[in-house]
Amino acid sequence: MSTLITNIGELVTNDPDADDLLGVIERAALLIEGTTVAWVGPADAAPTADQQVDAGGRAVLPGFVDSHSHLVFAGDRAAEFAARMAGESYAAGGIRTTVAATRAATDEQLIAHVARLVQEMRRQGTTTMEIKSGYGLTVVDEARSLAIARQFTEETTFLGAHVVPDGDPDEYVALVTGPRLEAAAPHARWIDAFCETGAFDADQARTVLEAGIAVGLRPRLHANQLGPGPGVRLAAELGLTAVDHCTYLTDDDIHALRDSGTIATLLPGVEFSTRQPYPDARALLDAGVSVALASDCNPGSSYTSSMPLCVALAVREMRMTPAEAVHAATAGGAAALDRDDVGALIPGRRADLVFLDAPTHVHLAYRPGVPLVAQAWIEGRPV
Ligand code: NIG
Ligand code: FE
Repeated sequence: MSTLITNIGELVTNDPDADDLLGVIERAALLIEGTTVAWVGPADAAPTADQQVDAGGRAVLPGFVDSHSHLVFAGDRAAEFAARMAGESYAAGGIRTTVAATRAATDEQLIAHVARLVQEMRRQGTTTMEIKSGYGLTVVDEARSLAIARQFTEETTFLGAHVVPDGDPDEYVALVTGPRLEAAAPHARWIDAFCETGAFDADQARTVLEAGIAVGLRPRLHANQLGPGPGVRLAAELGLTAVDHCTYLTDDDIHALRDSGTIATLLPGVEFSTRQPYPDARALLDAGVSVALASDCNPGSSYTSSMPLCVALAVREMRMTPAEAVHAATAGGAAALDRDDVGALIPGRRADLVFLDAPTHVHLAYRPGVPLVAQAWIEGRPV
């Protein structure tokens, strides 16, 4: 079965061979065969197909790839947010509140909650999402968080090293790299650690990631979120695909990222919700570092599931151009998940796309807060 989407006002392809960053084709068409893109080009040169869909002049973009979220949790921390807005500061320890609520929730409650958040994401154009554990922090609760996440995505991440629930961090690391990892690994593709003052230091984070690598997981890291620290340099040294947050960076950190090719995943929902300074995306891009944008959807530091909001914040607050922000939220996220089947609309890629009620991708930042995503398609079908 083939479908031709015609009358696309602006098609963002992210074609790496194009002259412009987004590989934009105006007055375009896109042919889907089965679940993948078969052809893109000017509408007046389009091939025929079994059926046609008229985009009505809308912009069509690759679906957003949200490479960082923590959707498996119960409860919320609205009171903590309100206290922050009244002057309190954000601290890693708030995670423990959500851990208690998550442990107390039934599987059915957690599944229903993740389903609601995934639905929210899809309505806002996210077609691939990563989901972490990290609010269970026992053998059973981490494994069940990941098994639940797996019902929604292949991109699952074991974040047993999220915070030390109580006791000695080194003893806790031994648990994370021992029985917890063993129970979690069958449900996870990635392993992550929160390398930060108040969470895990560089040696502990390295121990956790190396244990994960030894059982076949791919490493990634939360680093330099709450202050400067060694996490980003550790990520570069280990040659990680991506390191996430990157809010407090020194010039040496930026050079290390540039030299290693590690992607800096920026999470502007966090700075919005914690009133911390936004990461210096401009400095990263100007130094030649690859950047991804993700939501970090979680109940503590960033309770948004909206990639359009992240794009708007990146443009307005982080001095990214609209094209850079859209690229970082699509192709950037795909690269941060080591995926070459999503993040672009070129022949051979999955037909995961978004119709915008707008003539161009620029409107995502130009019209912040407006629900511009008319429809998202995954593998060639509306969702
Ligand atoms: O990515 N940094 C660590 N974890 C989350 C915050 C979790 C929480 O506050 O519950 C984050 O920001
Ligand atoms: Fe996070």
